[in-house]
Amino acid sequence: MPLQEIDRRRGFTFLESGPVVLVSTSDRGRYNVMTISWHMVMDFTPHIAMATGPWNHSFRTMMKTKQCVINVPTVELLETVVRIGIVSGTEVDKFARFHLTALPARDVQAPLIAECLAALECTVIDYVEKHGLVILEATRVWYNPWKKEKRVCHAIGNGRFSVDGATIDYRSLMEEKLPDGV
Ligand SMILES: Cc1cc2nc3c(=O)[nH]c(=O)nc-3n(C[C@H](O)[C@H](O)[C@H](O)COP(=O)(O)O)c2cc1C
Repeated sequence: MPLQEIDRRRGFTFLESGPVVLVSTSDRGRYNVMTISWHMVMDFTPHIAMATGPWNHSFRTMMKTKQCVINVPTVELLETVVRIGIVSGTEVDKFARFHLTALPARDVQAPLIAECLAALECTVIDYVEKHGLVILEATRVWYNPWKKEKRVCHAIGNGRFSVDGATIDYRSLMEEKLPDGV
């Protein structure tokens, strides 16, 4: 199994930079996936807010099952990520069409996506209807330490994306502010 479980306290580090993610769900065993760029880490647990609504089949499944997985794809998957976000699971089996490998999660029925760098198993703990915000708590985090490609993509919002470049280390400046485990 390429994804190895890691300390959930590292979960937020995969999202703080705001990568485009793939949110997988399971509706009575039928897997689906959607693309999400509107999400935000709310604390170190991590709790995560995601902006979506009933126009997405995935949203309806999340409301019913109270579960999903946030998968973090890297740059070689970007075209697939976009294609996943322009078709509905009500029309096609996106796991089959896009050749995604579903792996079993531990806490949720939704699958981990083997091709991704990381995957956060999440429980839906609230829904703020007024703002279309789904509030999630990640209960387990998985990471593929063997995946060479680590660059994630960031949606600009106009159909264009930026891709991670150099990593700059200011850890020594922030040491006192960082929680244990990251
Ligand atoms: C780059 C990209 C980013 C997206 N971000 C969001 C988002 O943040 N929230 C949302 O509700 N939909 C977003 N979408 C649209 C959904 O992914 C899209 O409606 C998807 O087809 C829903 O699939 P489903 O009906 O199978 O759930 C995005 C699409 C793309 C291509």
